[in-house]
Amino acid sequence: MSFGNVVILLGPPGAGKGTQAKRLAESTGFLHVSTGDLLREAVRNETELGLKSKAIMERGELVPDELVSQLVEEKFEKGSPEQGIILDGYPRNRAQAEFLDGILGEAGLLTINISIEDEEVVKRISGRRVAPQSGKVYNIYYSPSAKGEYCEESGEKLIQREDDREPVVRRRLEVYRRETQPLIDYYRQRGRFHDVDGGRTIGQVAQAVSRLVERELSQEQP
Ligand code: AP5
Repeated sequence: MSFGNVVILLGPPGAGKGTQAKRLAESTGFLHVSTGDLLREAVRNETELGLKSKAIMERGELVPDELVSQLVEEKFEKGSPEQGIILDGYPRNRAQAEFLDGILGEAGLLTINISIEDEEVVKRISGRRVAPQSGKVYNIYYSPSAKGEYCEESGEKLIQREDDREPVVRRRLEVYRRETQPLIDYYRQRGRFHDVDGGRTIGQVAQAVSRLVERELSQEQP
């Protein structure tokens, strides 16, 4: 397999990784790989992997590395990773980062760390509503659906994610601090690492992210 540029979006739950990854995928044509979305799809389809993952996700723990890595490899194989990749929610710990290094080889990495305050995490996550089939994401405080409790595009009734209940969010934050936050140093040392203030509006964060991506990618032109 050959790989184009790889953009890794790091950040705590609710930082806006998924929101920004979707926008960036639209503007760049890069393959969007969200392990959270892939796992939720497996749970919905009741695959063997989904059945193994469901309870773990509902507790806010990490799904075992080998299951997640299997999903990521399948997604690379089915997509066009040579066009570029946006990783959203992966890697999540040191073992996953090392596994990824093994797959990507010499591919160019750009890491963007989206930071936000804890109170904002709680507000964003408690306000998140999703269309269960299409995965379209809204927020009752910041970006509500024009159709109220229904998705503007698919008409589905919007739901709250099982793991968006407050005790689970607290657990996810703990897991983030213990397992994922150390990756900030891991990638900072590798270079091509940028912090982005995720506490601004979706549009402002998107502008900051796309400027960084354009700047870093244009530096690669001969
Ligand atoms: P996952 O789905 O990856 O959850 P997460 O990392 O906790 O991230 P979130 O989806 O909560 O937040 P986000 O940063 O994407 O924010 P979003 O853009 O949606 O993982 C879920 C679970 O799956 C894990 O707990 C684990 O069990 C398992 N899992 C996943 N990956 C794994 C892995 N690699 N290894 C092991 N297990 C794994 O935004 C949040 C809300 O805020 C939305 O409503 C949005 O509209 C709103 N919003 C976004 N940006 C802004 C803004 N700038 N201003 C105002 N509102 C905003």
